Amino acid sequence: MDRLRSSSSLCRSRALSYLCFFLCISCVAATDFNVTTIRFDEGYSPLFGDSNVVRSSDGKSVHLLLDRYTGSGFISSSLYNHGFFSAKIKLPADYTAGVVVAFYTSNGDVFEKTHDELDFEFLGNIHGKEWRFQTNVYGNGSTHRGREERYYLWFDPTREFHRYSILWTANNIIFYVDDVPIRQVVRNDAMGGDYPSKPMSLYATIWDASNWATSGGKYKVNYEYAPFVSHFSDLVLQGCPSDPIQQLPTGSCAEKDAELESADYAVITQERRAAMKNFRQRYMYYSYCYDSLRYPVPPPECVTVPAERRRFKDTGRLKFDSHHHRHSKRPRRVPTGSASNKQAEM
Ligand SMILES: *[C@@H]1O[C@H](CO)[C@@H](O)[C@H](O)[C@H]1NC(C)=O
Ligand SMILES: *[C@@H]1O[C@H](CO)[C@@H](O)[C@H](O)[C@H]1NC(C)=O
Repeated sequence: MDRLRSSSSLCRSRALSYLCFFLCISCVAATDFNVTTIRFDEGYSPLFGDSNVVRSSDGKSVHLLLDRYTGSGFISSSLYNHGFFSAKIKLPADYTAGVVVAFYTSNGDVFEKTHDELDFEFLGNIHGKEWRFQTNVYGNGSTHRGREERYYLWFDPTREFHRYSILWTANNIIFYVDDVPIRQVVRNDAMGGDYPSKPMSLYATIWDASNWATSGGKYKVNYEYAPFVSHFSDLVLQGCPSDPIQQLPTGSCAEKDAELESADYAVITQERRAAMKNFRQRYMYYSYCYDSLRYPVPPPECVTVPAERRRFKDTGRLKFDSHHHRHSKRPRRVPTGSASNKQAEM
């Protein structure tokens, strides 16, 4: 603890940030956003597999189970016109090949052909392999223009709860893992309707995706290991509840929008930007922006970083994926930068 404390105070000095980079290797994520959490019943209801949606006795957390009969899921009771959607999640442990846990916003139930969607999808693993996950963005039914990025994590997501968050404002989307922004999409006019623009609900699901999730479907769900249990707690829903069909008078969400846009999580500080860069350098192994076989011209929101570009093949995958063959579960380096936000907690 003393060692952590001294490394944290060192991190305060910008001049020593390079040194800090090495000292923070063993720092653990500890900060949290200053957000109001709600009980399950205050904002959500079961979506499917009701018997496998198991609420804790205090109503503050919920388990989603997948067994050989059904998966399960929950949905926010409202749709939100922009929002901050967040939960602490602990993923099922052991053998989870073919199991997908998804935490996402969508309005696919309301707008079948022109839906919007923002995804975290956790893609299962076989024994001894690391969990992988992807994020994706769809707008106005752009389902034939996937915007996937895939990554590893710097911790074992089955051991403890970590916060996963999606911020969506009129011009800015940020995906967070704990306090590390891992992806930002800044709206530009060329994106047109591909930028999500209609009210969305929050969904959380666990389901059998044997045909594609783990190594492209090579490894199926093995129900000897069932039930697969995903834990959700510290639920956060912030935004402007909206009726998706009845157009609201312009400006009726202005106050909520302003609140979202001025929140702590809407600001990518210099430290957070460094953490994001570090994360993406170390843990991103696929990006649609570098997949020139699929997109000869990268979609308009792509920001090409030449040094990054060189590390990826035309397929959008890393040339040398050092994680790919690794089997150990050693704790790994937390992206730099996040550490400098946490000394208050230590
Ligand atoms: C957290 O937010 C609440 C309400 O928005 C505010 O009163 C409080 O001062 C905040 N705490 C910190 C540490 O910023
Ligand atoms: C969304 O798609 C519909 C149907 O293709 C189209 O009429 C509409 O103009 C699009 N909206 C935006 C914002 O691009």
